[in-house]
Amino acid sequence: MNYDIRDIKLSEKGKLRIEWANQNMPVLNLIRERFKKKKPLNDTKIGCCLHITTETANLAITLKAGGAEVFLCASNPLSTQDDVAASLVKNFKIPVFAIRGEDRKTYYKHLQAVLKNNPQITMDDGADLVSTIANHSAKGESRQGRRSPIISSQILGGTEETTTGIIRLRAMEKKGVLKYPIIAVNDAQTKHFFDNRYGTGQSTIDGILRATNILLAGSNFVVCAYGWCGRGLAVRARGMGAKVIVCEVDPLKALEATMDGFSVMPLIEASKIGDIFITVSGDKNVLSEKHFKLMKDNVIIANAGHFDCEINISALKKISVSKKKIRSFVEQYRLKNNRKINLLGEGRLINLAAAEGHPATVMDMSFANQALSAEFIKQRKEKLENKVYNVPLEIDKNIAELKLKAMGIRIDSLTKEQEKYLTSWEIGT
Ligand code: NAI
Repeated sequence: MNYDIRDIKLSEKGKLRIEWANQNMPVLNLIRERFKKKKPLNDTKIGCCLHITTETANLAITLKAGGAEVFLCASNPLSTQDDVAASLVKNFKIPVFAIRGEDRKTYYKHLQAVLKNNPQITMDDGADLVSTIANHSAKGESRQGRRSPIISSQILGGTEETTTGIIRLRAMEKKGVLKYPIIAVNDAQTKHFFDNRYGTGQSTIDGILRATNILLAGSNFVVCAYGWCGRGLAVRARGMGAKVIVCEVDPLKALEATMDGFSVMPLIEASKIGDIFITVSGDKNVLSEKHFKLMKDNVIIANAGHFDCEINISALKKISVSKKKIRSFVEQYRLKNNRKINLLGEGRLINLAAAEGHPATVMDMSFANQALSAEFIKQRKEKLENKVYNVPLEIDKNIAELKLKAMGIRIDSLTKEQEKYLTSWEIGT
């Protein structure tokens, strides 16, 4: 649905919230100022499938300032902030095809709406645009069976925001079905070191608390996966006084979690003692029937990974006798053993479903990477092949420098002598 018909109050609220986030996005602001003058994205249509948040709005405004025509749809049915969408349409004249709580069919219809505008650059968070295009090209028709309006040959390139999207895109590259070059924004250090760790860490706690208002102090808080997001979440939960248990499949990550001071054990054991369980692995069916059956009465389960497949909800339904919505974002399942399990946010990423997603301070760097990667694609289009590329190191370093500068932090630099020494094999004397 396009937001042209949204009421004025909604768009005014969105406008103020976009402005609020913008105050904490100094790097993106610098890029926007340059884009306004130089117009590096002139005559470029950019199709974005991102969470429709205040930070995404600031990215879209920046791309438009650079001369691009921007079209937006949501990368998750529950992550759209309707006031932001309304404001983008009304105040910034950026078309948005997304509505909070849209069903699966509408979600894909909105993806199609963006693709029908024939973008030359795609921006994905989870690879849904790219995979839809690949499906079209393979079958010549959409999932709904209509003829495809999408011609991938006109696309110069795309960017990808999240870990799960990168996994999908690398699999597509390997299979030879990737139709155009992709810049892996997630893999930039100024992205996943900060966004995945501090952003997901804090906003997941925020989502859990907004949904439940529980006390974390003294609770057994189980973090399923100790990747970039899991690390951030575990540290923040500990900071709130929770007793954190980490469950992992990778021995290196498990060892790291142990030496970081967390209890590490198999999930089946943690299932018996946990009060709160959060999946954040990018994997499927991490929490499933065998775990649910062992859980204590009234536990909370939620997901912060990209897709809603980390908690096996159909298995939960199967072993339940009833379900009720006890609060916004909380569905309480009663099991045959009479215990209750509270599922938050329908198993969708809880930081976006029940809270507002990552704070602007980290999204500043993630979206600086997005804006500069779009410019990079435009500049280098002829030289790029149908592969997944890293964000160039100069871009990554430049963003870190700008961020430090904006934070008023100065650092040392190498002397000529040190520079030489660090690239030689001589022994220092
Ligand atoms: P990562 O690759 O750094 O870590 C994933 C970890 O999961 C690895 O350590 C892996 O060994 C572990 N794992 C895989 N299967 C497991 C299983 N069955 N049980 C326990 N551990 C398992 O990935 P990252 O960056 O931490 O991302 C994780 C997920 O979160 C992805 O789906 C990503 O797209 C998503 N994400 C969500 C965000 C949000 O706003 N909620 C923000 C950024 C990423």
